[in-house]
Amino acid sequence: MSGRTRADPRAAADSRYNDLEAGARVMAMRSATEQRPRKAFYQGDPFAGPPPPELEAILDRFRGRADSVIAVLQAIQETYGYLPRRPLGFAARELGVPLARLYGVATFYNQFHFSPPGKYVIQVCRGTACHVAASSELLAAISASLGIGEDESTEDGIFSLQTVACLGCCSLAPVMVVGGDVHGKMAPERLGELLERYRAAAREEGA
Ligand code: FES
Repeated sequence: MSGRTRADPRAAADSRYNDLEAGARVMAMRSATEQRPRKAFYQGDPFAGPPPPELEAILDRFRGRADSVIAVLQAIQETYGYLPRRPLGFAARELGVPLARLYGVATFYNQFHFSPPGKYVIQVCRGTACHVAASSELLAAISASLGIGEDESTEDGIFSLQTVACLGCCSLAPVMVVGGDVHGKMAPERLGELLERYRAAAREEGA
């Protein structure tokens, strides 16, 4: 006679039923947990208070002047170095100008920027004389060397890259400006040494 015992079919059915029942209980508990009201993480209205003093001073100059959108944006950018979202939200509320209009104007003109500038802003001229003198190759070389595109900044925060219309010194084409210094008759071959000089200066100042 074999040592094996035959499984009782009724016991097996009961066990299956118990498993199903336990599963159903778990599902019901999960569902109840999911339906429980979630904890709110509402942090309050970011524009509930007054604007910061430096922004308030700007907005006070332009209250009631619906035609001053460009001037307001320029003043905000001058103060912060770019157009941060929160000051734009305050400006829309305080001046009664739709936020979409502020963004519409800011994105139309390439003088406005939406991310913090690097320590040294590189501006490559795209005016006619510089264009003829291959400024687009210069721009491509800078972009490749720094790994950033137009209106972007390097991860180390040292450089950001912009293009501008005529810088007013066409006889030096192609022209680029780095941190306010004008560099004329630029050639991609001179880039490496030039950028390294500014990197070293940034390191020294940061030390
Ligand atoms: S076109 Fe570049 S400086 Fe005038």
